[in-house]
Amino acid sequence: MIKEKPLFLNPYRPGAGHMPPHLAGRHKETEEFIKLTSQTTILENMVLTGLRGVGKTVLLDTFKPLSIKNNWLWVGTDLSESASVSEENLAIRLLTDLSVVTSNVLISQEKISKIGFINTEEIIEKRLGFDFLTQLYQNTPGLVMDKLKYVLEFVWDCLQSQNIKGLIFAYDEAQNLSDQAAKEQYPLGILLDTFQSIQKKDVPFMLLLTGLPTLFPKLVESRTFAERMFRVVFLKRLNENDSRDAILKPITDQINTCLVHFTEESVNLIIKNSGGYPYFIQFICKEAYDVFLPKLEAGEKASVPLNEITRKLDTDFFAGRWARATDRQRELLIIIAQLDNSEEEFSVQDIVELSKKDMKKPFSPSHVNQMLSSLSTAGLIYKNRFGKYKNRFGKYSFAVPLLGQFILRQQKII
Ligand SMILES: Nc1ncnc2c1ncn2[C@@H]1O[C@H](COP(=O)(O)OP(=O)(O)OP(=O)(O)O)[C@@H](O)[C@H]1O
Ligand SMILES: [Mg+2]
Repeated sequence: MIKEKPLFLNPYRPGAGHMPPHLAGRHKETEEFIKLTSQTTILENMVLTGLRGVGKTVLLDTFKPLSIKNNWLWVGTDLSESASVSEENLAIRLLTDLSVVTSNVLISQEKISKIGFINTEEIIEKRLGFDFLTQLYQNTPGLVMDKLKYVLEFVWDCLQSQNIKGLIFAYDEAQNLSDQAAKEQYPLGILLDTFQSIQKKDVPFMLLLTGLPTLFPKLVESRTFAERMFRVVFLKRLNENDSRDAILKPITDQINTCLVHFTEESVNLIIKNSGGYPYFIQFICKEAYDVFLPKLEAGEKASVPLNEITRKLDTDFFAGRWARATDRQRELLIIIAQLDNSEEEFSVQDIVELSKKDMKKPFSPSHVNQMLSSLSTAGLIYKNRFGKYKNRFGKYSFAVPLLGQFILRQQKII
């Protein structure tokens, strides 16, 4: 169906952290967050987790204006580069982020008569800027945590008179934070200890950590009390209705200017092949839009070129991750991809058994364990604490959605 020629650009946004033209679903998760912001004493913080590309970053971005509207201050950043951050660096990170919102807060004003000048006074103002905060931090005796706690409590004392409910410390890609026993550096532990301690003293500073499914187990490994300290919200694929909205709303909302329309058949095909995963929806829709536009302009019928799009997705999204795996890791991943339950969860036992059947040099259980652990560090696998059967131990899942199907395509198994 052709309408008048529009000035309408392809609206879809496949890309890490790119806000989609329509953010579909996620109402329940947003409600959960809003509930947490109604706390006066912070008993629960939030972990927002899920597979690669499921929409954690963009959802986090929508929480910011919501928080500000509800009189919370919002600080934080992306921790992508923080793999080997030291305790001291973590403290500086927190102070840097904090100072962005506190730097205008006036804490004292002094009138000083200038010597040598009659009737001249200088007004010296102290504000909660980065220099002030770091000086306060450095002048406080004790270990990193003592210093940090003191500064955070001091900041809250200064903010109390303002109409603020509290502060949200929002950190994306937080799975990158690591304690490093070998270097005697425990930044993650310090972060958790500090917030737990100030929250007990009624300082309303809340942690909102976002990251891959390896994040929460990592927090609990660092401090067992993390289990009780966080409300874990696991973002899943979009359901059928929400997927439909993510596909159609960007173009139907602009029905007067948008030339492209997807037929019911195309929509169903996109839902099926994206698996409801937001990144794949954006990716397939963007490609399909570009193919549809000239065809519809020329008055021809268009359909979604699924094979071509899948091949492009393989190159753009999966190939880089696959290339980083070693040969032996790939052999293991190929076995996993062939398990019936590979898209859900699988155990070491499942892998060992199939490898005995399929391989000349099968994997031993201890070898599988070891390799799953390194694949987990590489962000391809995670130990599943949120599985269907609430199995706490021994079950694993792919951390990258639809990775199994990609592997089978590579091996020409499907
Ligand atoms: N609810 C949604 N509706 C439609 N599109 C979405 C939705 N959530 C995310 N997207 C799209 O999916 C893609 C991935 O989103 P985002 O970068 O937030 O995922 P992520 O979970 O943070 O990924 P990563 O694990 O790589 O950090 C983006 O292109 C975004 O526009
Ligand atoms: Mg992200």
